Amino acid sequence: MGQQKTVFWSQIMAPDKCLTVLVLVAGLCSSFTYAKLPNIVFIVADDLGFNDVGFNNPDILSPNIDKLASEGVILDQSYVHPVCTPSRSAFMTGLYPWKAGLQHGTIHPLQPVCAPYNVTFLPEVLRKQGYATHMVGKWHLGFCNWNCTPTYRGFDSFFGFYSGMEDYYAHTRDNGLDLRDDEKPDRLDGGIYSAELFAMRAKRIITNHDKNRPLFLYLPFQNVHAPVQVPRRYSNMYAHIQDETRRNFSGMVSAMDEAIGNITTALKEAGLYDNTLIAFTSDNGGSPFRGGNNFPLRGSKASIWEGGTRAVAFVHGPMLQKTGYRHNGKFHAVDWFQTFLAVAGGSPAANINMDSMNLWPMLKLGIDSARTEFVYHLDNKSPSLQGHAAIRVGDYKYIEGFPGLFSGWAEPPKVQQSQEYLNLDHDRDSLDAFYKYMQKSKTSPGYSGHGLYNIKDDPTEHKNLVQTMPQVVQEMKKKLKLAQQEMVPANDPPDDNKGNPNNFGGVWTPGWC
Ligand SMILES: *[C@@H]1O[C@H](CO)[C@@H](O)[C@H](O)[C@H]1NC(C)=O
Ligand SMILES: *[C@@H]1O[C@H](CO)[C@@H](O)[C@H](O)[C@H]1NC(C)=O
Ligand SMILES: *[C@@H]1O[C@H](CO)[C@@H](O)[C@H](O)[C@H]1NC(C)=O
Repeated sequence: MGQQKTVFWSQIMAPDKCLTVLVLVAGLCSSFTYAKLPNIVFIVADDLGFNDVGFNNPDILSPNIDKLASEGVILDQSYVHPVCTPSRSAFMTGLYPWKAGLQHGTIHPLQPVCAPYNVTFLPEVLRKQGYATHMVGKWHLGFCNWNCTPTYRGFDSFFGFYSGMEDYYAHTRDNGLDLRDDEKPDRLDGGIYSAELFAMRAKRIITNHDKNRPLFLYLPFQNVHAPVQVPRRYSNMYAHIQDETRRNFSGMVSAMDEAIGNITTALKEAGLYDNTLIAFTSDNGGSPFRGGNNFPLRGSKASIWEGGTRAVAFVHGPMLQKTGYRHNGKFHAVDWFQTFLAVAGGSPAANINMDSMNLWPMLKLGIDSARTEFVYHLDNKSPSLQGHAAIRVGDYKYIEGFPGLFSGWAEPPKVQQSQEYLNLDHDRDSLDAFYKYMQKSKTSPGYSGHGLYNIKDDPTEHKNLVQTMPQVVQEMKKKLKLAQQEMVPANDPPDDNKGNPNNFGGVWTPGWC
């Protein structure tokens, strides 16, 4: 034994081997120096439907997104809320939106409301981990007070718009400009399509980033929310699509895809790509009335059917140990918070953001999800009839109340836009108008106020099991009741004309609540 040891050491210490050892030690040292926290680029697509991306639908041209998804992990059971504000609230706070009063529809620009001040935002906890935190794109979490806005909620910089929708070129909504560079109105970039504008800014942030610090870049695109607007070079890629709204909409996906391609290139050129986690999700389903599509899933944006809530989502990065597959583990909008915090080397704070789960082990290792249940949505505010709610436990989904705008299955070319629907006040983007419309044209095949679906066997929600499985229904109802007890009243005040851009030189501006 002793002799073997001696032989071993003499081999190691032989002059030629010594060099190897030194090189090894040096290699360890340098890899330790460079083993920094990963950069995180969190991309959100607005109103992107299940059937609106190349990896789910070959009619859509999104080669950059498809490549990232196929090299990473597609999250096949990743869920969001039915509309923008609640989902964004969940992304930023890790809380279910009904605990922040943000469950009812979206914040519209004259409403004096925003996410509660005492809730911790994701960029705040990442900043504590040493991250530079930047945001480019759409906020939609309120702006009536400066304390509501991104640079007061943890972002080092912000470039984008505060409200929920606007013109893609002029960056105006109604009578006001809504484009900011940090806190200053940006009057110079009118005319540039937002996907290009946002890609340019993201590129600049990436290029100028100090590599000694990890980067968090939150990139919620305007695409592909209404209005349907796109430069012709993108819609020209879709001669095979007859319907003009669908053709233009598809071009909007391709414009965003090109922007993501450009940002990926910028990450490579800056030497950040090899240590970057790219995460992508939609904020809710597509609206078949505005060019989007969720087929074969049921329903649309602003519904709690799968078409409104099952997100297009994936993660990509060298830190993922198993890639190139679809993970069918459950993931929910609230989970990005603790998951990113874990990526950033933080320990989960137990007292805040209780709804969020750290699902990094699932993403990184490809193991089962630790999440077995979640609440799709809760909203008890009139005029959503008796309110609506949905919960998922294992493979079962239970829905109660009015499921929301559009309960059918819409194939892309077959959707007709009714003039009545088009005349609705889309600018306000409020659910109230949708509900009024739905009350007139209420068709929910197989559903009349209660639904139980086995999402594994029946992902398109054709077979209501509510009559055949009463004991499962009872269990689900019990869980739903518990969740409902945690709901605070929706903070949904009437519009206040104090916020009118006329009072602020034609710019949507904080400072009136
Ligand atoms: C924030 O304040 C509200 C109202 O005082 C309270 O109900 C809620 O629990 C607080 N939330 C947190 C996360 O502290
Ligand atoms: C992507 O980069 C190319 C080359 O710089 C540019 O021409 C194009 O407009 C960019 N596209 C987007 C959507 O940013
Ligand atoms: C489609 O986009 C073109 C411009 O690229 C525009 O002229 C046309 O009106 C749009 N059509 C629809 C239905 O949105």
